[in-house]
Amino acid sequence: MGTKGHTEIRDRVEHLRREIERHNHLYYTEAKPEISDREYDRLMAELVELERKHPELDRPDSPSRKVGGAPIDGFVTVRHSEPMLSIDNTYSADDLREFDKRVRKWLDGAPVRYFVEAKIDGVAMALRYEDGVLTQGLTRGDGEKGDDVTSNLRTVRDLPLRLLGRNHPPVLEVRGEVYMARADFAYLNKTREAEGLEPFANPRNSTAGSLKLLDPTLCAKRKLRLFVYGIQKADELGMKTHQEALGKAKEWGLPVNPLGEVCETIDAVLKLVDRWQTRRNELPYEIDGLVIKVDDLAQRKALGNTSKSPRWVSAYKFEAEQGTTRLREITIQVGKTGALTPVANLDPVRLAGTTVTRASLHNEDYIREKDIRVGDLVVVEKAGEIIPYIVRSEPSARTGEEKEYHFPRHCPVCGEAVKRDADGAVTRCTGKDCIGVARRRLRAFAARNAMDIEGLGSETVDQLVDAGLLRSLADIYRLQKEQLLPLERMGEQSVNNLLAGIEASKERGMARLLTGLGIRHVGETVADTLAGRFADIAELRGATEEAIASIPGIGPERAGSIRAWFDDDANGGLVDELAGLGLNMQAPPRPAREEQVLAGKTLVVTGTLEKFDRAEVERLIRELGGKAAGSVSKKTDYLVAGANAGSKLDKARELGVKVLDEEGFAKLIGR
Ligand code: IVH
Repeated sequence: MGTKGHTEIRDRVEHLRREIERHNHLYYTEAKPEISDREYDRLMAELVELERKHPELDRPDSPSRKVGGAPIDGFVTVRHSEPMLSIDNTYSADDLREFDKRVRKWLDGAPVRYFVEAKIDGVAMALRYEDGVLTQGLTRGDGEKGDDVTSNLRTVRDLPLRLLGRNHPPVLEVRGEVYMARADFAYLNKTREAEGLEPFANPRNSTAGSLKLLDPTLCAKRKLRLFVYGIQKADELGMKTHQEALGKAKEWGLPVNPLGEVCETIDAVLKLVDRWQTRRNELPYEIDGLVIKVDDLAQRKALGNTSKSPRWVSAYKFEAEQGTTRLREITIQVGKTGALTPVANLDPVRLAGTTVTRASLHNEDYIREKDIRVGDLVVVEKAGEIIPYIVRSEPSARTGEEKEYHFPRHCPVCGEAVKRDADGAVTRCTGKDCIGVARRRLRAFAARNAMDIEGLGSETVDQLVDAGLLRSLADIYRLQKEQLLPLERMGEQSVNNLLAGIEASKERGMARLLTGLGIRHVGETVADTLAGRFADIAELRGATEEAIASIPGIGPERAGSIRAWFDDDANGGLVDELAGLGLNMQAPPRPAREEQVLAGKTLVVTGTLEKFDRAEVERLIRELGGKAAGSVSKKTDYLVAGANAGSKLDKARELGVKVLDEEGFAKLIGR
């Protein structure tokens, strides 16, 4: 290629980078996107392709790093330029007044102003920019040395790889918190469960886990975000106050949490504490308290540090959403794969605005390790989206009446022996014909994310199992009107609806059927992948383990599980039966044309939804021929907005895009 051609390519690459950076900023910082996701993706794809063909043009601050970069072998440990200290915690108004008194005493009674910020519940990060380009990101580690996670940090959505404006300090170090928004966390866990993976306990854990991924492309999919909460050596850069430093950070395009406020007195701080205690649940990300900082940088210097923490800052921790109550009974739930899960039945306790009567005890080992006994006072925690669980017992409150719990050796439903998995803490029922497992399998099969059988919810499944009409999945398709009519709550109309729902489900196709079959490690996503590779279930069934394992996103463990499932005669027989009963086993499903109600339409989903979850809505949109986009633009046809919808809703109103609530959406798609 001639020199001229190369110059043109370089210019194009530079142009693309500038444009993408500008759109990143418009999207994440200003919440005012100018182009559609599709156009954005097109720009990014062009850049990635040009960089692939011309590796000499690659740069560490190319916005293409947002979607990943080359996988690495491990993380290097690097010393922090200044130790990352921790903050002294306060838990009450009295503690905070004490903190204020100490500060004033050390400052000889000089007037003090505080800057109060949200304490983001994520993972601390030290970031380094050289000549305005992001060059390093270190985790806190032990405070002295941290892990270099730069390539993963580059994928953080709202973080500029190059600072905006000019005249940046040659070296700029900022510190902040990487976090995951609630919605992204919920979505991640949903997908993990669909893939048969263990869900993360909370957004902080999922953030930490994501930063440790060795493949930045995977990390990019986790949609991490960041708030900068401090500039190192801000005084040496000529800034006088923390507020001024954050203002500068914002000018440079760094994401700064908008909730910060200056307080002139500790009483004003306490008012804020009260206000945020209740408002925290409305935020799209989790905060676990407020951070109260002396605003004046010269005063900070005068105050200095103790060996562990600076004297100029205090973290006020919100009350954890924990409560103490009595554990009355431990019952066992048998899942669709036969897993036995112990559940604590509790005296009702109010937590995070809901009444909790049941909480997870995870597994046999957990009960033993935590020495949890029936009759104990126990501490229950409910955080955000998470199922309540027992944190610990209070052995000091025991009367001697409490009973140690013995995990059953036999399935409480069918009485067959149980067996622990060789590779974990999970205990399973070995019964080939366990009615508990059957119930769960039937429910999972009929569920919305699988065969989506209208009229066949959990209660109806139980009713039909109890009536002896359902046992295997195939039984669903043998149900007769005359059998159903005599049952309670089964009027003519309900029966017709149920049978119509069952009939309609026959056309769901390979992916949904695979999801519904309850093969271990095969959830929606994996099922979709398989349906993208095999023409129908028969072809998958005939495939070798190696062939299945070689599909991207499947891997040996899942392939083994899939192969083993089909090799089990009972399962092979079930598939034959279902085929004989007229189920469509082809990929992709044959959607009736009249179902493609969203053909050519672009929808955006935002806010907290109640009846649907976001993954489900997006899947429905795709299935019905539409496109689920991430940001609102002129080309958006509908915004589906749940509770606490924010900037996207404003944008939609501004552009005159039609806004639907959940009901409106359900109506639109005719459900
Ligand atoms: S200031 C000297 N500001 O909380 C420490 N920290 O418990 C200066 N955190 O490790 C930290 N939000 O990772 C500060 N607005 C905020 C914060 C914040 C979250 C984290 C931080 C730190 C931990 C201390």
